[in-house]
Amino acid sequence: MIHTGRHFLQIPGPTNVPDRILRAIDQPVLDHRGPEFSKLGSEILEGLRAIFQTAGSVVVYPASGTGAWEAAIVNTLSPGDHVLMFETGHFSQLWRQVAERFGIHVEYVSGNWRRGAAREDVEARLGSDTKHTLKAVMIVHNETSTGVTSRIAEIRRAMDRVRHPALLMVDTVSSLAAIDYRHDEWQVDVTIAGSQKGFMLPPGLSFNAISEKALSANQTAQLPRSYWDWQQMLEPNRSGFFPYTPATTLLYGLREALLMLQEEGLPNVFRRHARHAEATRAAVRAWELELVCEEPQEYSNTLTAVFMPKGYDADQFRGVILDHFDMSLGAGLGKLAGKIFRIGHLGSFNDLMLAGTLSGIEMGLRLAGVPHQQGGLMAALDELVPATGKLEPAMLAR
Ligand SMILES: Cc1ncc(COP(=O)(O)O)c(C=O)c1O
Repeated sequence: MIHTGRHFLQIPGPTNVPDRILRAIDQPVLDHRGPEFSKLGSEILEGLRAIFQTAGSVVVYPASGTGAWEAAIVNTLSPGDHVLMFETGHFSQLWRQVAERFGIHVEYVSGNWRRGAAREDVEARLGSDTKHTLKAVMIVHNETSTGVTSRIAEIRRAMDRVRHPALLMVDTVSSLAAIDYRHDEWQVDVTIAGSQKGFMLPPGLSFNAISEKALSANQTAQLPRSYWDWQQMLEPNRSGFFPYTPATTLLYGLREALLMLQEEGLPNVFRRHARHAEATRAAVRAWELELVCEEPQEYSNTLTAVFMPKGYDADQFRGVILDHFDMSLGAGLGKLAGKIFRIGHLGSFNDLMLAGTLSGIEMGLRLAGVPHQQGGLMAALDELVPATGKLEPAMLAR
């Protein structure tokens, strides 16, 4: 089938890259040891602080999110250390595997992939760890495989209540620059992020935001490290340089992304994502399909994961939508493979892109003969522009 017009990339990241960022990346490569780069590097490293909501250091790796996971572990822990993690979904499992491959003992609190990490579990487990054996609590803020957002502020309060000194490490790969997140205020020690979601960039960059406490842990951490070593990175970063060849053209894109986020204003960015997520859920409810997330306080604002009715294969359904409407939706991952589809509504996104996305899904449901109620799209439009929400008549008066 020949497709015309633009492809709809509605997976929960990598996200659509705005033309402004594509143009910014489309530059001649520059000397990464020269004065121009020093200026670019310094500007970016400073600008990133606002997005992580931190006054501390943020380091940038030419790597995917998985690299930043590994960096967080090798910079703070020693072989044989014990850490606490939560089974929120596929990505928590993968991060756990990275830790275990480094000889870390992971205490993994089981979960049903429909809820976030529970503060009660954090409080109970850390409260009983009177010898402070657990060196870190590691949580995926927004579980991209399920559309569930854990409540980090509550988890921080639980850690404080039991006065446990464990480091708090949080993966914000699919939440940063889209869902409210506060590295300093929530006293997170290492925040992990990537370029390909809220930052609206292509894949290829990832980040660690680092607290003073994490820097101290770094002094004694025994895991071997070289490429990921914060000390190797922080020293040249002071003058805007990197210890090895940085992804120069992606950094042009990052500078543009930071500018765009600043122009829109972070609170507006968060509100926009919340509004599109609410409208998406209105559509899913109207279709009478089931959301994966079962806790309304933990609904994700960047993606919505939806169960297929029993007996219907989610991957075949996504195939129909790709063939007929040239739209990519997210696949179910791990144990949810074939059972769910995921709608990405993050990054560079607007009302009409959401309407197009939901139209494609509604047409796909019809075409594939999936049992559902009609009217999901209308329910979403009502959410975006309520019937009562007309413009002031004066605005249209001539
Ligand atoms: C929450 C989360 N963490 C980590 C990762 C791994 O990142 P990457 O695939 O960029 O290595 C992903 C990827 O989608 C993710 O969604």
